[in-house]
Amino acid sequence: MNGHSSAPISGPPAPPSAVQQSADQRSTRAPLHPPPLSLYVHLPWCVRKCPYCDFNSHEGRGALPFAAYIDALLADLDHDLPLVWGRTVQTVFFGGGTPSLFPPEHIERFLQGASSRLRFAPGCEITLETNPGTAEHGRFELYRAAGVNRLSFGIQSFDDGCLQRLGRIHDSHEADAAVKLAQDAGFDNINLDLMYALPQQTLAMAEYDLERAFALQPAHISHYQLTLEPNTMFAAKPPQGIPDDDASWDMQEHCQALLAARGYAQYEVSAYARPGRQSAHNLNYWRYGDYLGIGAGAHGKLTLGHDASILRRWKVKHPATYLAGAGKADAIGGDDRIDPERRPFEFMLNALRLVDGFELDLFSLRTGLAQDAIAAPLQQALGYGWLEIEGGHVRPTEAGRRFNNDLVSLFL
Ligand SMILES: C[S@@+](CC[C@H](N)C(=O)[O-])C[C@H]1O[C@@H](n2cnc3c(N)ncnc32)[C@H](O)[C@@H]1O
Ligand code: SF4
Repeated sequence: MNGHSSAPISGPPAPPSAVQQSADQRSTRAPLHPPPLSLYVHLPWCVRKCPYCDFNSHEGRGALPFAAYIDALLADLDHDLPLVWGRTVQTVFFGGGTPSLFPPEHIERFLQGASSRLRFAPGCEITLETNPGTAEHGRFELYRAAGVNRLSFGIQSFDDGCLQRLGRIHDSHEADAAVKLAQDAGFDNINLDLMYALPQQTLAMAEYDLERAFALQPAHISHYQLTLEPNTMFAAKPPQGIPDDDASWDMQEHCQALLAARGYAQYEVSAYARPGRQSAHNLNYWRYGDYLGIGAGAHGKLTLGHDASILRRWKVKHPATYLAGAGKADAIGGDDRIDPERRPFEFMLNALRLVDGFELDLFSLRTGLAQDAIAAPLQQALGYGWLEIEGGHVRPTEAGRRFNNDLVSLFL
């Protein structure tokens, strides 16, 4: 989500080697250890498709097959269980689509079924994505009783004109009210999704959105630049008045400063949190952890100890095809083994999104490669002033974050 990453590759000559090679690092292989495991559950229906959205989400017409879908999820989980025998789930994330369309008793049945098949870590973070237009009195207490302990609200903006232009099903008062209902029900770990660089939005309007968010005192704010995704209604017919690159960059800089001043520290390209309130689930993605993906169109990434490989598996996208095939090979959209040559790029695509970067040792643990596999591109990135390396810790500089795409492509 960084729209400012297209500068040509240029910069001062590389400084002397900052990544010292020791004799025992020269082999390109290192032991591949299974990293922390998360569970991603995709719930694919929405009340209405938003014109900017390219997620696997489908307008739910008529009564949705909630019970059949939970059966399918559990069958899907059973089918994938041999890939994660004996491992503990650290976080669960219900994403969509609009997971809050599912009544709490269905979420509860899934969580009971999943925790009887897989060990959940004590204090496991369990997040449910919520559209404010689906909030009903009394529902949040029941989600909490079901085991959900974190909510992520798709707010987007608190300006009613912006919300209308985005095709949202709720207004700003409903957004406020939904978050307050959740807080009254005891949820204190809440994320608000906001987007900026919206059609006809000014800098003052983007700052106003943040002020309204601060007033609700969420633990976490995700602040995304609106992107025109291929195959969406906005891509086919772009709305009037989208801020240009300079105006969007200005909004990003001012909003970053405002978030920091109010105690929301940026820890990833689009993620800001109060101390200790980072999203454990998303951090596991960015640290190239493992995740089992179940549900229509869900993607998973798993380190398989027995043959030291990394497997990406995804499920078929369409809900009807998924419902018919779940639990059988028919529901698998594809399997892809990530060979060692592709791992540096994949690792960097994730880890270089983190403001604090990563330990070089983590690279080896997660990819099964020794550090010399990335010595050359690291040198190049240091030369361009895009990275700093100190005591085995790699951190993107401000320029590295700005030109994130170019930085990451050095590792291709
Ligand atoms: C799957 S949606 C989350 C929740 C729920 N479906 C909703 O919209 O209320 C995830 C988030 O991605 C962001 N998003 C979706 N499409 C985007 C786009 N084209 N550009 C930037 N952010 C986008 C929105 O902030 C959205 O809340
Ligand atoms: S509600 Fe969320 S997932 Fe559904 S179409 Fe809108 S942005 Fe996409």
